[in-house]
Parts: sequence; C-alpha cells; structure tokens
Amino acid sequence: MNAREIRPGIFWVGVNDRTTDLFEGVWPLPHGVSYNAYLVIGERVALIDTVKAHFAEDLLRNISQVISLERLDYIVVNHMEPDHSGALPAVLRQAPSATVLATPQALPMLASFYGITERVKPVSDGERIDLGGKALAFHHIPFVHWPETMATYEETERVLFTCDAFGGFHALDGVLFDDEVEVWEYEDEILRYFSNIVGMHSRPVLRAIEKLKGLDIAVIAPSHGLVWRRDPVHILEMYSRWARMEALPEVTLVFGSMYGFTSRMAEAVARGVKKAGLKVKVLDAARTHVSFLIREAWKRKGLIIGAPTYDTGIFPPVEYFLRLLERKRLRDRVVGVFGSYGWKGGAVDKIMERVGPLGWEVVDTLGFHGAPSPDDLARAESLGEKVATRVREAASVAEAI
Ligand SMILES: Cc1cc2nc3c(=O)[nH]c(=O)nc-3n(C[C@H](O)[C@H](O)[C@H](O)COP(=O)(O)O)c2cc1C
Ligand SMILES: [Fe+2]
Ligand SMILES: [Fe+2]
Repeated sequence: MNAREIRPGIFWVGVNDRTTDLFEGVWPLPHGVSYNAYLVIGERVALIDTVKAHFAEDLLRNISQVISLERLDYIVVNHMEPDHSGALPAVLRQAPSATVLATPQALPMLASFYGITERVKPVSDGERIDLGGKALAFHHIPFVHWPETMATYEETERVLFTCDAFGGFHALDGVLFDDEVEVWEYEDEILRYFSNIVGMHSRPVLRAIEKLKGLDIAVIAPSHGLVWRRDPVHILEMYSRWARMEALPEVTLVFGSMYGFTSRMAEAVARGVKKAGLKVKVLDAARTHVSFLIREAWKRKGLIIGAPTYDTGIFPPVEYFLRLLERKRLRDRVVGVFGSYGWKGGAVDKIMERVGPLGWEVVDTLGFHGAPSPDDLARAESLGEKVATRVREAASVAEAI
C-alpha cells in the first residue's frame, strides 16, 4: 500500500503483513495484520513508530513518497516490541538528523535490542515537542502493552497515536478508516487481538482510557488495523467493555475428546443451555487454535469446560486453554465443568484446581465413567441448564445496575 494522507500534514506510511504465519510466534493470522506508522509534517518532521524489520524496505519507500528521509527530525517510539521497532535501525541509517523519542523505560531496550544509545531523547509523561505548525504531546500508558509504552497526541489535528492500544488483527484490505468498512466485519479479529495480546493488561487499559479521554480526540490512529475517524469512541468503548470483562449473556462450551465419550456429553450440555433459552457456541479444543478459544471465552459470560482424563490429568489441549486463560486473567465468568475417566479419574479435579484461583463462579461439576449412561446425559443437560440460568440471572442484575 502507498502512503496516504489521513489529516492535513499527517500521513499513514505503514505496511500490511500477509506473510507472517504466527504473530509473536504464537497467534495465527488468517486475515493478516498491519503495522501502521505515521509521518507528522510541520516545519520539523516526526515519524511515529516503524514496522517489523522484515518490512523495512516498504516503510522506507512509503516515507520517500512523502518526504526525503534526510528531513526526518524525530522518530517517536511509542512501544519497543519489534513489530513496531524492528525497522528502526534501517530508518536511522538513512535519517542522519533524526533523534529517537521514547519513554525512559525504553532506553535499556533500545540499547540491548539494537545497540542504539546515541541520538536518543527520553520524554517524560506530559512532555510536548513543537514541530512548527504541528505539536506532539507524550502520554505514558505503561503496560499497554509493555512497561515502556506511551501514546502520542498531535495537538493541531487532534490525532492520538496509540500503538498497540485500540489495535486489532486483520490487514487493511484496500482501506484505512473505520468509515470505509463494515466495522463488525473486523470486530472478531479486534477481539482476538485484544484478548490474546493486551487482555491480561486489562487494568492498565482502563487506566489508559481514563487518562486519555480528557484529550480532544478527532482520530485514533493505532499501529495495528483500522484508523478511527468516524467514531473513535466506538473503539474506546469496545476496549473498555472487554477490559471490564463485560460479556454477552450466552455460553461458550470448550471441550476435548479422544474417543467420543466426552463429546457425546458436550452435545447434551449444549442442548441443556439451549433448552434454558441461551445461545451456546461449541468449540473442540484440539481442533481450534487456542487464540480463538480465548476470544470466544472473552465474548460470553458463561463458560463450560469438558475434558477426558489423560495421564491422570486434563486432556492436554483443554489444559493449555485453561493455562492461557489464567495467564490472560479472564475474570467474572459463570462456569460449569464436566469430565470423563476410564479408571480413577482426575480431569474434573485438575480443572477445578486451575479454575479455583481465578475467582469464577462455578455453578456445577460433573464426572462420569466411560460411555455416558442415560443418567449421565440427563445430568449433562441439567449442567447446561444450570449454567444458562445463572448467566441469565447475572445479565438481568447487570442490566438493572
Ligand atoms: C492416552 C490416554 C490416557 C488416559 N489416562 C487416564 C488416566 O490417567 N486416568 C483415567 O481414569 N483414565 C484415563 N484414560 C481413559 C479416558 O479418560 C477415558 O477412556 C475417557 O472416557 C475417554 O473419553 P473420550 O472418549 O471423550 O476421549 C486415558 C485414556 C488415554 C487414551
Ligand atoms: Fe506490543
Ligand atoms: Fe504491536
């Protein structure tokens, strides 16, 4: 994609990445991702963030479409993760007058990641830099996503560059702005990004929203995904809802099964949820990448987990899902657990050990031996009904508040 002016004197110069299979080496990218970088052109010129090293040439080409690289005075590094800082050494080599602006916490990272120790100026929280006709103000937002992270606000055009905050997966398909797409088509990938990348930092996200909402914002320009100019409040509200653990009054059922006993029970549980009048999304943990499982668990208030016992513990794909959910610090869920065994069992107890410290409300648990009997299937249906009923109650309480 070519450089594109997003406001007078402010240009998007980022790239689409459709070739990285796994973001951070873990998260699949079926629709790609973008690394957005921006040029702010006053009498002096600032580049806001760079891109992944692999795409340095594309970034340099985009910048050159707008200005000569020698004209760069500042490179603002909002965040040091290499998906944004990787091309920094390449830019610095071609921009002899540029100074790097970053938080003091970024300095040791600049030195160790890239050996950059000169032409760096730390900026404090609230500090401003006048570019002549444009002006930047820096707002530290630690842990959205790393401790050194900040957002940069351009005062004359009221554009807030937020880097990872308010970003999402999904490359920009010939578009840049929220008003050029059906936003709902991007929302699932924004939530998959939120839940897997910044979800564990939900409290810092809420603190950042609180801190930034005093600014007069015309455009939110993150470094992944859509630029929000029609409705910047929409992305703030989505992030705020997800960070507050708000969820749909529906149920996510994640299960694993080796030979079909647990999956038969999962069908009965799902029927029970539906009987109680709620929607249920059923996902096989072994056949669905965990990033999608985490997204679906983030989306709905009810979460039912089912697994056979495997080597005295939880069937591994379900265990991995639970470990990651714990890491991502998902809170406030209404939960049911079921599990099967061949001789002694263990899956249900081990799931409970993992679930206990998370503070979720466990409504029902159910262990069964071998092939589910008619009685087991009836209990499974009842487990689904109980979870659904409790989710419905919790939703009506939330609505009343
Ligand atoms: C590799 C493997 C390991 C197992 N380990 C245990 C175990 O440690 N304890 C136990 O009670 N059952 C164990 N089982 C038996 C299963 O938990 C049991 O057959 C269960 O009903 C399988 O459910 P499924 O049909 O949903 O896969 C194991 C089964 C397999 C294939
Ligand atoms: Fe990041
Ligand atoms: Fe990022």
